[in-house]
Amino acid sequence: MSDLFASAGQHEPWIESLDAGVSLLHGFAKDNAAVLYQEIIAISARSTYRHLSTPGGYVMSVETTSCGARGWFSDQHGYRYVSRDPISNAPWPVMPESFLRLAGDAAKAAGFDQFVPDACLINRYLPGAKMSLHQDKNERDYSAPIVSVSLGLPATFMFGGNLRSDPVKHLDLLHGDVLVWGGVSRLRFHGVMPIAPGQHALCGQQRINLTFRLAG
Ligand code: SIN
Ligand code: FE2
Repeated sequence: MSDLFASAGQHEPWIESLDAGVSLLHGFAKDNAAVLYQEIIAISARSTYRHLSTPGGYVMSVETTSCGARGWFSDQHGYRYVSRDPISNAPWPVMPESFLRLAGDAAKAAGFDQFVPDACLINRYLPGAKMSLHQDKNERDYSAPIVSVSLGLPATFMFGGNLRSDPVKHLDLLHGDVLVWGGVSRLRFHGVMPIAPGQHALCGQQRINLTFRLAG
């Protein structure tokens, strides 16, 4: 992996600049992970995880829920943000302070000041779940970065270019890592390889990803 040698002797958290507008903040969320995880449990008790369908009729292998003013949603009518959970018909759970602080601090450490997300997508990957290459492009304005937090089982993240056909780099994302991409890299294709089975001390047999965005 690209960071194998760079990481020797480094103390977490440390910031790896991968490309223009792309930073991997190793271990940035580790100290907060237990607090974040408790919040995730509380959120998913109110707005349960669900397998969304793509407009093309494919059922996603990840399960998702959301918190914040806007929640990302997908069904046969398309990809979009909605302000209420379509299952409960209630507003999405409020974004916890700990989430807002982490997202803002991570964006700042990566060179993006004043990031205040209005959407947090929570993806739960059980072993075997994956996410195909895609762009995050349902947001109104692309000047804000994407802040993506990994918890639990490790993932191999696929990070491509601005075209679907561009070469893809593979990154190991470990518990507590935060990947930030924005600026000229805001619309890079990305995805997640199938998660390998395993057991994580805090999160059990799953990987959780928090994706913070400014959607509206
Ligand atoms: C996503 O692109 O929505 C998820 C990325 C990840 O799980 O790391
Ligand atoms: Fe994405």
